[in-house]
Amino acid sequence: MPKESTRPEHVAIIMDGNGRWAQMRGRPRLFGHAAGARRVKEIVRACPDLGVRYLTIFAFSTENWKRTQTEVAGLMRLFKRYIRREAQALFDENVRVRFIGDRVRLEPALVDLMDGLELMTAGNSGTNLTIALNYGGRDEVTRAARRLAHDVAMGKLDPREVSDETFPRYLDTHVLPDPDLVIRTSGEARISNFLLWQSAYAEYEFIDTLWPDFSPEVFAQVIGRFGQRERRFGAVMA
Ligand code: IPE
Ligand code: IPE
Ligand code: MG
Repeated sequence: MPKESTRPEHVAIIMDGNGRWAQMRGRPRLFGHAAGARRVKEIVRACPDLGVRYLTIFAFSTENWKRTQTEVAGLMRLFKRYIRREAQALFDENVRVRFIGDRVRLEPALVDLMDGLELMTAGNSGTNLTIALNYGGRDEVTRAARRLAHDVAMGKLDPREVSDETFPRYLDTHVLPDPDLVIRTSGEARISNFLLWQSAYAEYEFIDTLWPDFSPEVFAQVIGRFGQRERRFGAVMA
């Protein structure tokens, strides 16, 4: 069996720890989220040199609505501001942006900005940046199952064709390869409903760094460690 590439093609990041980062400085949680948003830009820029073609970042989960109204509203404002401010730079840097997650619960002004950015960067051929916004793995799989059931009911899909190859075509991530590496910052060792189906064979790195401190140098170190791992995918290596 050929040895797997030592660089991950697709890296997914659970950007955690913004609240604690702010708290340590005696500042409101939104201060941490703003600092976290600034980090995203540097990490996206670091991708080409590290050989990362796909970067997927967890920005807001289907469970994050449980936070205070102030924090949720502040995050939504931040997402809108981020898209408005960064759209041109992302386009100029040849980044192709996609969003995954359920848009139904998001406000129309935000959805318009998301659609606009996807459209604007659709012809770009550089880093594929996917932003998970109102995303939950279970929600995604459930929505996929609903669409699949609909296709079966309409006679468009034969139940015998449902397989682990056809099912992912119904997922939000249908155009993306599975992540090779999932990084979670802030020391928590859990998935929190991120890319459940897609991460079946991902390598995981749980690191203590809080997201606003996650620099391109730390990113490069984590990518370097990935190269040391032996990925077996259930097989036995010679
Ligand atoms: C991650 O940071 C960002 C979002 C979930 C939006 P947190 O806000 O979860 O920060 P901590 O975990 O409370 O420190
Ligand atoms: C996961 O972080 C979601 C995002 C990073 C957007 P959380 O901080 O919401 O997860 P839990 O609550 O620690 O599991
Ligand atoms: Mg958190």
